[in-house]
Amino acid sequence: MTGSSMEAELARAEAAVADMAARRGDRWYPRTHIAANAGWINDPNGLCHFGGRYHVYFQHHPYSAQWGPMYWGHVSSADLVTWRHEPIALAPSLEEDRDGVFSGSAIVDGDELVVYYTGHRWRNGVSEDEGNLQVQCMARSSDGTTFVKEGVVVTGPPELPHFRDPKVWRMGETWYMVFGVSSADERGEVWLYTSTDGAAWEFDRVLFRDPDPNAFMLECPDMFPLGDAWVIVYCPMGPKPQGYGLRNGHNAGYVVGDWAPGQDFVQRTDFRPADWGGNYYAPQSFTSPDGRRIAFGWMGGFDHPIVSQRDSWCGQLTVPRELTLADDLRVRAMPVAEFAGLRTATVDLGEVTIGRDEELTLLPDLDSADIELTISLPDGDAERVGLVLRTETGNEILIAYDDLAQRVLIDRRRAGYGERGYRAAPFDGDVLRLRIVVDRGSVEVFAGDGAECVSSLVFLGEGVRSAILFAESGSARFTQATAHRLGSIWEN
Ligand code: FRU
Repeated sequence: MTGSSMEAELARAEAAVADMAARRGDRWYPRTHIAANAGWINDPNGLCHFGGRYHVYFQHHPYSAQWGPMYWGHVSSADLVTWRHEPIALAPSLEEDRDGVFSGSAIVDGDELVVYYTGHRWRNGVSEDEGNLQVQCMARSSDGTTFVKEGVVVTGPPELPHFRDPKVWRMGETWYMVFGVSSADERGEVWLYTSTDGAAWEFDRVLFRDPDPNAFMLECPDMFPLGDAWVIVYCPMGPKPQGYGLRNGHNAGYVVGDWAPGQDFVQRTDFRPADWGGNYYAPQSFTSPDGRRIAFGWMGGFDHPIVSQRDSWCGQLTVPRELTLADDLRVRAMPVAEFAGLRTATVDLGEVTIGRDEELTLLPDLDSADIELTISLPDGDAERVGLVLRTETGNEILIAYDDLAQRVLIDRRRAGYGERGYRAAPFDGDVLRLRIVVDRGSVEVFAGDGAECVSSLVFLGEGVRSAILFAESGSARFTQATAHRLGSIWEN
């Protein structure tokens, strides 16, 4: 197929999205999170700052709210606060990406944006049953909107069924590419390639092999320096749940270690979840012009139907998170400072004590909000303390500290729609600071200044939603209880 066939395919896909968008239901559609105008999205791709704007591309199926052959959708922002939907950027058009333009990343090279993605084919043309043929491909753009494909740049042993998701960075004159591989003995690995021009690539080494023998593939690896260390983020396929960790069908986590060009990666930590919530996968990071490491993750899932699919859309990204390395080698994640630019009005209850089994309304109605709570744990004896989000009709979810488990949790047991269950991150300390981003269909919780995150899709229910402080089986003292209403990120 030729370049013009990509243009024709992009036009068809845009028309399909416009058609679905006209029927889109908005009760769960995000006000403060990136999503497609309509249709399905998964992983964030090609994150960069180019031509004076931030660009976020994402895995996109423009023909339905289900996963299907992949395109790259696109949004952009001047300030990381408000966003504009852009035309779909990449569509299948080569024999090698016939069944999907899979995940990948971007590099700014002078006046050009260079993107790398996995060209995906099913061997049998219809399903994974007889395996995949996956190769790494390159495309260029001068404006971030329209791309010219350069074709395949990395081919692997053709018998390997999982060989995908290139993440590229540059140091000095050398370009580096990592991607995920299922090895010949079916173990999850990250392979490293190098290049001097971004076009011709050489195998360097197997940089990382997951010690978990159940992990047969590592999807969407990311690798970057943070503090005085290097971090490899990856999404292992196959591991079994371990306590509170790895509870989802798809889980993302990281290891911290040492690495230098030409060397092996030396692991300094075990695998830790990047987020303990029910819906966080395939995160990707990039460096902002002022040198911050910023990541977006995907909030969605492949395992169960998602209620927004009835409304012609599915999947959203997290808010942009700034990553930093703590002294104990935990990767901390907090909403970028710019996110506060969405705040419109603030309710501040100051210091409050909630009596045993009592409640206090923080916001009587909310659409999307950014909530800051500080709880002085030694000043109370509640077994659970935190925030209830409740509808008029009595559906509710809890965002709480559980003093028995010593964990911060999101409990969706009484959500009106969608998955139930709870997810919980460890917390160990006296003063618990919680930052909670509530949108129409999701909640992101940042505990202990981002030491742990818990992010889940939340489909609460009909009618007005309120946010209420509570203390259960004991009292609790909040030294801060502030809620900021948020405006919408959308310019179009
Ligand atoms: C992860 C993933 C990637 C792949 C893409 C396909 O969610 O499976 O490994 O490139 O999604 O949409």
